[in-house]
Amino acid sequence: MLSIKKLNVVVGDKKILNDFNIDIKEGEIHAIMGPNGTGKSTLSKVILGNKNYEVVSGDIKFDGKSILGLATDEIARLGVFVSFQNPISIEGVVNSEFLKTAINARRENAIGLFEFVKELEGKAKELDYPEELIHRGVNVGASGGERKKNEVLQMELLEPKFIILDELDSGLDIDSLKKVCEGINNYLKNHPKTGVLIITHYPRILEYIKPQFVHMMVCGKIVKTGGYDLAFEIEKKGYSDTSIIDSGENNE
Ligand SMILES: Nc1ncnc2c1ncn2[C@@H]1O[C@H](COP(=O)(O)OP(=O)(O)OP(=O)(O)O)[C@@H](O)[C@H]1O
Ligand SMILES: [Mg+2]
Repeated sequence: MLSIKKLNVVVGDKKILNDFNIDIKEGEIHAIMGPNGTGKSTLSKVILGNKNYEVVSGDIKFDGKSILGLATDEIARLGVFVSFQNPISIEGVVNSEFLKTAINARRENAIGLFEFVKELEGKAKELDYPEELIHRGVNVGASGGERKKNEVLQMELLEPKFIILDELDSGLDIDSLKKVCEGINNYLKNHPKTGVLIITHYPRILEYIKPQFVHMMVCGKIVKTGGYDLAFEIEKKGYSDTSIIDSGENNE
């Protein structure tokens, strides 16, 4: 599904991703944990075709085809969705209109207004997303947690094939995190082929959405791959304890 090989990415003269490799197959849930500034958000932006970052070498394939060089909307239309760490607000673009346009961009026939409103209101209610925010400018005046819920609302409506959740857990209160994760798990139950990449600093979200693979990323590359338990080992030991990397098999 998503296959990244020897990806090297720079901004100006700063190298951010360094021979980065990952392979995520249909239906798999992966998590990446790593220190601040190690390139996790850069990775999600590069996957979605952000042109501020220069791909010097390597490749990103989605469903067997290279997506390097494609525009962000083309990549999104293939079914890749990123829930961003810091969702922006867009003044003057009404949220519901934005969502409808995004849905229609992925459909042959435009969604009927009645069907759209019913779906939007139903999903917003499930996520405890305030209805008034649906009719406002995208994220205008929205709190940190409300912005995260809006990302998940978008995701559920767009029905992507591959989801990246970049620090979805930051900014969500305890009940909201649970609710949002239940929403995602429900989505995954109904769309079992979806691939998922969760970027996080803490294992809590992984207790709700359980990954089969956990990767530790340092200095722009994966230095260790393990199972679910690796997240808890990282939480206990942190990134400066090299015994994590030294134990067991490492990712090349
Ligand atoms: N557009 C940019 N211009 C200059 N430097 C950038 C740019 N984007 C990212 N960087 C730098 O690249 C490094 C990686 O940033 P990135 O946001 O990917 O880190 P991260 O692993 O997501 O960190 P965090 O856990 O804090 O979210 C940082 O040092 C950051 O300052
Ligand atoms: Mg980040």
